[in-house]
Amino acid sequence: MNLADLNKIANAMVAPGRGILAADESSGTIKKRFDAIGVESTEDNRRDYRELLFRSQEAMSKYISGVILYDETIWQKAKDGTPLVKLIEQAGSIPGIKVDEGTQPLPGCPNELITVGLDKLAERLKKYYEQGARFAKWRAVIDIAPGIPSYTAVRTNAHALARYAALCQQAQIVPIVEPEVLMDGDHTIDRCYEVTEFVLKETFQELYYQKVPLEGIVLKPNMAVAGKKSAKKAGVEEVAEKTVRLLKTCVPGAVPGIAFLSGGQSDEEATAHLDAMNKIGGLPWKLTFSYGRALQAAPQKAWSGKADNVAAAQRAFTHRAQMNGLASKGEWKQDLEKKAA
Ligand code: 13P
Repeated sequence: MNLADLNKIANAMVAPGRGILAADESSGTIKKRFDAIGVESTEDNRRDYRELLFRSQEAMSKYISGVILYDETIWQKAKDGTPLVKLIEQAGSIPGIKVDEGTQPLPGCPNELITVGLDKLAERLKKYYEQGARFAKWRAVIDIAPGIPSYTAVRTNAHALARYAALCQQAQIVPIVEPEVLMDGDHTIDRCYEVTEFVLKETFQELYYQKVPLEGIVLKPNMAVAGKKSAKKAGVEEVAEKTVRLLKTCVPGAVPGIAFLSGGQSDEEATAHLDAMNKIGGLPWKLTFSYGRALQAAPQKAWSGKADNVAAAQRAFTHRAQMNGLASKGEWKQDLEKKAA
């Protein structure tokens, strides 16, 4: 492992003004997204849609530091035969790859999940590196409901995340460590804080036990937010203040950067929260975005599967990428959204 080179990539992934495009929806998830816009999920449609994003020159070259790809996409070629990975590289962005293989029920823990995909991961990482991937992603899923998460679920998922991270670094690939506490329930922001604190503490403990140098990772956490079905939604300032406090408690300053998931927040909320955190300032790590839905909902709607809409979809993507790029520097203003509307 060359830690200096891993650290260089990690720093580039979280460079000020830029963040990560999570375009790594699994076949099941992209079908759900396409169903919502009335597009059939064929291999060609998935390619055309992702090609449209990666050919958004302004967004990709100015605001998107890296792209997380799904296995299918990393091997795909654009319509003119250029590998999609090349399009990303040509725009000055870094290709990355989702390497987990989804979740399975965790034995002995009803309603809880464990992320799988460690078997043969070392071999797969070698092939992905040859194909151009310089970072990877593994998502652990922790749900909040009465009686859960259990210690077993938190611990086993943290263990798997650290195993994955160690294998990535050995393959000279920066691991994005993503322990996602879902916002699906009716819990308060304080319950989300408490569970996320537990999850992050366990995750960093496992990273330590498994000898993962923190200078060579990027953390991808959820923010501290109330559950979607909660009676009391937290305001932007409260989310920002609590998330920063939580991260300061759990994340060592050796970590180059933290790139949040959007997790079901609205596009503008995800931007406003990131911006408010960066406005607080004085942070030991960079705070940026690694959004899936909050970057893609608008372009998906604008595109709706029609070639005539490609330019409009690219404009919608560029707008969200720019807004989040500003938020990563604490320079976003709500006026900028209205002007674009
Ligand atoms: P969302 O921003 O849509 O939560 O997706 C990010 C991601 O990569 C989840 O694993």
